[in-house]
Amino acid sequence: MAQEIIIRPGRNIAGTLSLPGDKSISHRYAMLASIAEGTTTLENFSTGADCASTLNCLKSLGVNWERAGNRVVVQGRGPNLRPSARPLDCGNSGSTMRMLSGVLAGQNFTSELAGDESLSRRPMARVITPLEMMGARITAADGGRPPLRIAGARLRAIEYKLPVASAQVKTSLLFAGLFASGETRVEEPLRTRDHGELALRAFGAEVKQHGNESRIAGGQKLRAIEATIPGDLSSAAFFLCAAALFPGSQLTISGLGLNPTRSFLLDLLVGMGLRVSVTQLEETHGELVGTVQATGGELRGVTIQNPHTAMLIDEIPVLAAIAPYTTTGIEIRDARELRVKESDRIAAMATNLRTMGAAVEEHEDGLKIPGGQKLRGAKIDSHGDHRIAMAFAIAALRAEGETLICGADAAVISYPGFFEVLERVVKR
Ligand code: S3P
Repeated sequence: MAQEIIIRPGRNIAGTLSLPGDKSISHRYAMLASIAEGTTTLENFSTGADCASTLNCLKSLGVNWERAGNRVVVQGRGPNLRPSARPLDCGNSGSTMRMLSGVLAGQNFTSELAGDESLSRRPMARVITPLEMMGARITAADGGRPPLRIAGARLRAIEYKLPVASAQVKTSLLFAGLFASGETRVEEPLRTRDHGELALRAFGAEVKQHGNESRIAGGQKLRAIEATIPGDLSSAAFFLCAAALFPGSQLTISGLGLNPTRSFLLDLLVGMGLRVSVTQLEETHGELVGTVQATGGELRGVTIQNPHTAMLIDEIPVLAAIAPYTTTGIEIRDARELRVKESDRIAAMATNLRTMGAAVEEHEDGLKIPGGQKLRGAKIDSHGDHRIAMAFAIAALRAEGETLICGADAAVISYPGFFEVLERVVKR
């Protein structure tokens, strides 16, 4: 049964937090640990259901791992996984399906990957085409949708230009490149998050980067690591945007992932009026981590377009949710990819904002949301999408009256416990 949660307006945000491990890094480390030699220990592994889907697929592929709280210990098998007796259930996770496809393309057996209703609607041709060029044989449902059937093969390296900027696809091809003869080169139209490249290096592989191109030579052996996964900046985004709503907010987030290909949100919020300071900056396995202190101030509007849209792709729902409260509004362009996420996020944001009384212009590739608007509490539909559920909990904090989030349980995909933590930091 879909869960409903009531969010009451707040006065400001105050408190200290540390966040569950980054979802993008957790998926990548779990997959690479499985095909590495030796035992990998991962602390602060993502608590989200998406990363549990990755772990469960890996178990079906013969990988032994154990989980105690947020620590996951993975016994690497080396490059050869074991065929799964049943289809691999990727749940709601596009990352699991796309990135694992890269590993499965290089195995000497056939795998089937399936997902829930939302994942079954998402485009997979973007991994199918290049992985087939490398030698795998892949069948999919109509329109290149899941389920996928991947007959692994001896792969050969390709030089491939990604038609859409996607870190999942880039990572999938770099993972496949590990199994290919020759050097695989992947060029992206815009630089996307580089967790795949950094994770491969952390596990001992050499990955070269020149401009927007990443290259990997096949046949490299991976070795196990011990790592603490940085807190997820895309989860922190909800609290940072909440803090930005109130001039009196004081929020501290420690151990937060600040990879420069992910952290544009902080620059953007500073430009909008949030005061941010970063301390205790360090690097772990190539990933930057630090403590962020945020103090609320003014809330000015902004226009978001490429290359920034691509860097903010997971944060746009919450930015749209606070847009009506900015002085001059937020315009989002170049965000067509949001239509093929866990839900059609552009439509879901427009509908829910209108339900709360906001004026919104919807475009094929984005939204224009005027500033200086007053919203009223309303009944919001998460569309089964974790980021929509959490984004509208933030919009509710400055609305008049209570907001009911229907399908709030979707938050477990990336952040179980989100609503409890939100209640702890919202002051009324
Ligand atoms: C991710 C990349 C992005 C992002 C997703 C996670 C990743 O997707 O939206 O939540 O971990 O590489 P795309 O690769 O489809 O842009």
